[in-house]
Amino acid sequence: MTFRIAQISDTHLSDEKPFFVDNFVRIGEALRADRPDLVLNSGDISLDGASNEGDLAAARSLHDGLDLPVRFLAGNHDIGDCQDAPSHGEGTIDPTRRERYLRHFGSDWWSLDVPGWRLLGINAQLLGSDLDEAWRQDAAIVDAAATLGSRRMALFLHKPMFDSSVGETAITGRFINPAPRHKLLASLGDVTPALIACGHVHQYRETSAAGSCHVWGTSTAFVLPDRLQPRYGVKEVGYVEHRLKPDGTHDSRLVQVAGVPTLDIADFPGAYGPI
Ligand SMILES: [Fe+2]
Ligand SMILES: [Fe+2]
Repeated sequence: MTFRIAQISDTHLSDEKPFFVDNFVRIGEALRADRPDLVLNSGDISLDGASNEGDLAAARSLHDGLDLPVRFLAGNHDIGDCQDAPSHGEGTIDPTRRERYLRHFGSDWWSLDVPGWRLLGINAQLLGSDLDEAWRQDAAIVDAAATLGSRRMALFLHKPMFDSSVGETAITGRFINPAPRHKLLASLGDVTPALIACGHVHQYRETSAAGSCHVWGTSTAFVLPDRLQPRYGVKEVGYVEHRLKPDGTHDSRLVQVAGVPTLDIADFPGAYGPI
């Protein structure tokens, strides 16, 4: 039995500022017709849940309306950014923001076993933070790897591990920074995830590096103009279908839904201010 995951990402939902709700609803209709085994939102579920709890509540309610099995990952706009990200006016993760996220979306790290595979979802913003739960999450990662057995691992987190190589040294807000990246890989021990899937960049990309297939899920909502963000892959909205087969093989593809426009954040100054 092939396990099919529909990875949606960067939905950026809000009821006060509902700029991206129509795209979510239309993609949700396509998902309800397709009936994947799991819908996985890889973070930035809300427009600004890190400072506005109403956005978290609105986003949760829209996902409940899908009437499909759903799991969530926290993004920087839901829970605050990584503490080691360069400052860009956005708050960082702290216990209050994290508790608020948990109230709406449940545990920020989780695992799920399906035939031939273990899915491990983690909170990228917790990596390298000074919260006590960072250590608990590390312990859970160690345990998930140590008890993997003959399964393959699919790792899901909001931010990409790196651009092109594990040894990159740049400190950015775009990728997992070097120190937490190396700690995460150390926690995985001998396990090399077959698939590492993320969101955050609002572009679809599939590459191979350090023994893993790295898939960046695009946003359902909007892309960023080239003057603000390099073009790493495909700047189109949609979702990603991952097919995990019991024999350990897998494939991923970008799915674009007819009638869902690729919006440009520059056209929505009301969302995060003029850019
Ligand atoms: Fe995002
Ligand atoms: Fe993000």
